[in-house]
Amino acid sequence: MRKSLKAVLENRLEPSELKLLYRSYDIVGDIAIIRVPETLKQYSDHIAEAIMQTYKRIKTVLRQVSPVTSDYRLRELEWVTGERKTETVHKEHDCIFKIDLKRCYFSPRLVYERMRIAQQIQLDETVVNMFAGVGCYSILIAKHSRAEKIYSIDTNPIAVRYMRENIKLNKVGEQVVSFQGDAKTVVEEKLQNIADRVLMPLPEKAYKYLDYAMLTLKPTGGWIHYYDFEHAGKHENPIEKVEARVAKKLQNFGVSFETSFGRVVRTIGPRWFQIVVDIRILP
Ligand SMILES: C[S@@+](CC[C@H](N)C(=O)[O-])C[C@H]1O[C@@H](n2cnc3c(N)ncnc32)[C@H](O)[C@@H]1O
Repeated sequence: MRKSLKAVLENRLEPSELKLLYRSYDIVGDIAIIRVPETLKQYSDHIAEAIMQTYKRIKTVLRQVSPVTSDYRLRELEWVTGERKTETVHKEHDCIFKIDLKRCYFSPRLVYERMRIAQQIQLDETVVNMFAGVGCYSILIAKHSRAEKIYSIDTNPIAVRYMRENIKLNKVGEQVVSFQGDAKTVVEEKLQNIADRVLMPLPEKAYKYLDYAMLTLKPTGGWIHYYDFEHAGKHENPIEKVEARVAKKLQNFGVSFETSFGRVVRTIGPRWFQIVVDIRILP
């Protein structure tokens, strides 16, 4: 937590309570989203006030009151203070993302992961982003690599509307092509055998959609960036568990592959992790 925010709250909260607030808020553009533990709920207004005092550019504070749920990966947000709005413009690595936080998924915490992927893209690659949201990975790739095309699919019509606006705002219309629909259907109907690289940034569905990632890849092979959730006991490695599960499924396709890299993207609960593995499908 920023030192100054801590200082503002120090008089009001116990040190143990302050600790609970660590990493419990996100800043997206000029909106702060706070997640206040049940035990500290009565301090929501103080926390919001302290955030406004600490970060002068914040115009609105919202409280997240549900986990991220549903096909569209949305969360319920309650207004706490400032302007009554849920739309904002977020800047990240020379990109601009316009987002309605109530109606589209967005996480500023994936900033490192987005750039990690963008840095791997080779000259003239064709990329398929199966779960593109408002276009963050795709636009970042367009700006920071020399990919030829980045086909970007999302089922949420509002996310796709923002993605299209973001493509214009970032002037990447030559490279990023958007589709609204279920990734399965779009791949089957329009994107078979064309990709050098496939992004699957939806852990809830990636395993089920792996067949379609294979379908969109070129017959000469390529890369799949596969995201999943995994639990790991004290002596278990969550990355190895995901690699083993994916390997089992890929063996059914009769292809050669190697998982060149895996990492914990974030911890999502006690011993639960979001994992990414980079899989190379060989010719
Ligand atoms: C976790 S979000 C990731 C969005 C984006 N990649 C990002 O990092 O901001 C997953 C996205 O997948 C979309 N989605 C869910 N099911 C889908 C499907 N069957 N086909 C295409 N998109 C889907 C949701 O609407 C959501 O925008």
